Amino acid sequence: MNLLTVDDLSVDLAGVPVLREVGFTMAHGEALGVVGESGSGKSITLRALARLLPDSARQTGTITFDGKDVSKLRGAALREFRRHEVSFVFQDPRSAINPIQRIGDFLLESVRDAGEDVSAVRTQSLQLLRRMGIDDAERRMTQYPFELSGGLLQRVMIASGLLPRPKLLLADEPTTALDVTTQSDVLALADELRREQDTALIFVTHDIDLALAICDRVLVLYAGRVLEISPSQAAVSHPYTKGLLDSRPPIDTRLDRLPSIEGTPIAAAEAGSGCPFVFRCPVALPQCRDSLPDLVEHGPTLVRCHLVEASRG
Ligand SMILES: Nc1ncnc2c1ncn2[C@@H]1O[C@H](COP(=O)(O)OP(=O)(O)OP(=O)(O)O)[C@@H](O)[C@H]1O
Ligand SMILES: [Mg+2]
Repeated sequence: MNLLTVDDLSVDLAGVPVLREVGFTMAHGEALGVVGESGSGKSITLRALARLLPDSARQTGTITFDGKDVSKLRGAALREFRRHEVSFVFQDPRSAINPIQRIGDFLLESVRDAGEDVSAVRTQSLQLLRRMGIDDAERRMTQYPFELSGGLLQRVMIASGLLPRPKLLLADEPTTALDVTTQSDVLALADELRREQDTALIFVTHDIDLALAICDRVLVLYAGRVLEISPSQAAVSHPYTKGLLDSRPPIDTRLDRLPSIEGTPIAAAEAGSGCPFVFRCPVALPQCRDSLPDLVEHGPTLVRCHLVEASRG
């Protein structure tokens, strides 16, 4: 059985469409990268999965987590889901932590009223902090968030996300605010820990290279729609995903100007019945303005593109 099945998920916020017919599955322990330009719906997707959308949101479709319909969870079942089944790590740790609570209290709080043995949880917290590269973990537990650098605080947040041993960790650009060396360090440690725990991961990032390096598959969002789900750079088939790959700075040569995808992304609400990428697509066909094909298998990738369909004959 899949850990997660998202089927035909559409979300409107304050009456405005932001996600349309999103569908994908995840196996237990799998890592899925989610990429796409700003406004494509990455954060909204994660929030829908964790039942964290604002009250004004209107949602259709189904999210099935470990056999349960997430939208039907209420009361104790919803608390259990949020406490032990999914964890969230946000981009900005300072906005997600109480500034007047010590680090140790913050870590223990999530389990204290669940009736768990506090001293055992304290030991686990210390172990996790050390595994996340925090040497003086005992002292850090007594400090307040303002006494820790952004990088240290994000290590604490990831440890707190893994502490309940969730089945799924949702990480929304967890390392974007960190410098590049710290970023790869933190990600490598987090990945090692979540593999040991068999915790699945959804990793939102702007960096498709990073997503392909860390994750088993990468899901590409554009204007609130899934355009491709691919396991590797070699399998990538959608012109938009190829454009994202071509926009990366080369490692070995200096260029005066980086190649980039012409034009700017549109909002989900601006897309008609056609492919939302048609306005920027260098290889668009006439039918791309009228309809968006279903997501279909093309070798190891899942893609929705008329050009790919045409090439299959
Ligand atoms: N609370 C809200 N009310 C109304 N619209 C919203 C709200 N939050 C997000 N949106 C809109 O939903 C769309 C998707 O936003 P989302 O935050 O998921 O994008 P994103 O892919 O995470 O972008 P970024 O890379 O900038 O974080 C955007 O057009 C955004 O303007
Ligand atoms: Mg976002």
